[in-house]
Amino acid sequence: MRVLFVASECAPFVKTGGLADVVGALPKALAAHGIEVRVVMPAYPALNTLVKKAKTATDLGTVQGGPARLVAAKAQGLDLLLLDAPHLYDRPGNIYLGPDGKDWPDNYLRYGALSSVAASLAAEGLDGWTPDLVHAHDWQAGLVAAYLKLRHRGGPKTVITIHNIAFQGLFPPTILDDVGLPSAAFTIDGFEYFGQVSCLKAGLVYSDRITTVSPTYARELMTDTFGMGLEGLLALRRDDLSGILNGIDLDIWNPEADGDIAAPYSARAMGGKAKNKAALEKRFGLARKPNAPLFCVISRLTEQKGLDLLLQTVPRIVQHGARLVLLGSGQADLEKGFTAAAKIYPRDIGVVLGYDEPLSHLMQAGADAILIPSRFEPCGLTQLYGLRYGTLPVVARTGGLVDTVIDANAAALAAGCATGFHMSETSVAGLSDAMGRVCDAYSDKKRWREMMRCAMRHPVGWDRSAGQYADLYAGLVNGGGARGG
Ligand code: ADP
Ligand code: GLC
Repeated sequence: MRVLFVASECAPFVKTGGLADVVGALPKALAAHGIEVRVVMPAYPALNTLVKKAKTATDLGTVQGGPARLVAAKAQGLDLLLLDAPHLYDRPGNIYLGPDGKDWPDNYLRYGALSSVAASLAAEGLDGWTPDLVHAHDWQAGLVAAYLKLRHRGGPKTVITIHNIAFQGLFPPTILDDVGLPSAAFTIDGFEYFGQVSCLKAGLVYSDRITTVSPTYARELMTDTFGMGLEGLLALRRDDLSGILNGIDLDIWNPEADGDIAAPYSARAMGGKAKNKAALEKRFGLARKPNAPLFCVISRLTEQKGLDLLLQTVPRIVQHGARLVLLGSGQADLEKGFTAAAKIYPRDIGVVLGYDEPLSHLMQAGADAILIPSRFEPCGLTQLYGLRYGTLPVVARTGGLVDTVIDANAAALAAGCATGFHMSETSVAGLSDAMGRVCDAYSDKKRWREMMRCAMRHPVGWDRSAGQYADLYAGLVNGGGARGG
């Protein structure tokens, strides 16, 4: 089977979050199921070297006021189709944001063009390659299904995955002419959302199937607490909605062979973990305290991630004799707050602002526990890396966090299957209590090691979920089948 992925980011080339990890890893896992995936994405500057070496697959003439072509390239085990349109994508820095830190004002043209080109490619094929199915990811690819249904009036079956419903791609209706969509579909049953065009809603309305990245988030999305105004539509389409957990790339995230960490280790031989802890303490300028628990955070600093709660618990962390290292960037108030905390407690709290992939590996290897107090979390990947590296996750009870981490309650400890800690509630008190439980558990070295081993053996690869996507695709392409879940 041939599947066309449409996405705005893909690791290891361009990444702002977990979406890129999924788009970079899932095609390789699907190959094991006989599924041939091509990924169509913009040719951002990070892909320049690849684009220069690659061949033009097709000249698209003028797209949204500038020359455009599709370039075919194979790299890192992925088969890429890069939309080379310099007037849209040749811009420095974060792919979504301009120099003022705000969304580029023409993002509707940038991702409208991506979706439009992908829809034509899906409907007409490219050099004899025609996909059996299109799999669009998030709002940036939301318009693909709309173009197929409203412009091409046909084409392959479509699946859209919601990685995060908080990002909807909302624009005023004046964009419709520019992106070539009919105003007749600007209705509540089409892509209208409280007076605006919602690119994500377009994907949810016109795609044949909808998935999201965990079973719990699939249920949460149908409630007004989490659905962000789209809960009614999703409840209506509940039979077409399913939650399939994300996995991780076990080759990239492997403590036995990770070039970015200080010493290798495994569930059988965990000695290297202590060396990584020492390296991490040194890197962040913390006091050397091998027997005090070291928490880490690797995250976008936004409202979603609940890190304002963590900032308020910093004094408690220090009182517990624990430490914290944080890597992240985002909201100015949080960046300032954590920087100030590190100044007050320089030997116990370490902060690096920015984006640093190798450092994120060392942190997963060197810390004892990873904190993820999110207000909502569609899946979350950092807790999965934590499990794989024996860095026990401390998580809010939401979305994929609750689906992937087994709380160290009495029953789970007795059964020997606990892998982390659930917060009793998403609040300062809930987080403080959970960190208190971590500190108690950490003082029982034998029990802690058992939990580490259990975490490291927990299956976090793509095997099972890739099988679920393969079943879903097969059901759609062969007509009906494979619903719900
Ligand atoms: P989200 O996609 O909502 O940001 P996920 O947990 O799914 O959350 O994925 C985040 C991804 O981005 C992970 O791979 C994580 O390691 C990475 N990441 C987040 N912030 C940073 C950072 N500052 N430096 C390096 N990697 C980061
Ligand atoms: C989103 C979500 C995150 C998820 C990721 C990949 O960015 O916030 O929870 O893991 O997408 O699906």
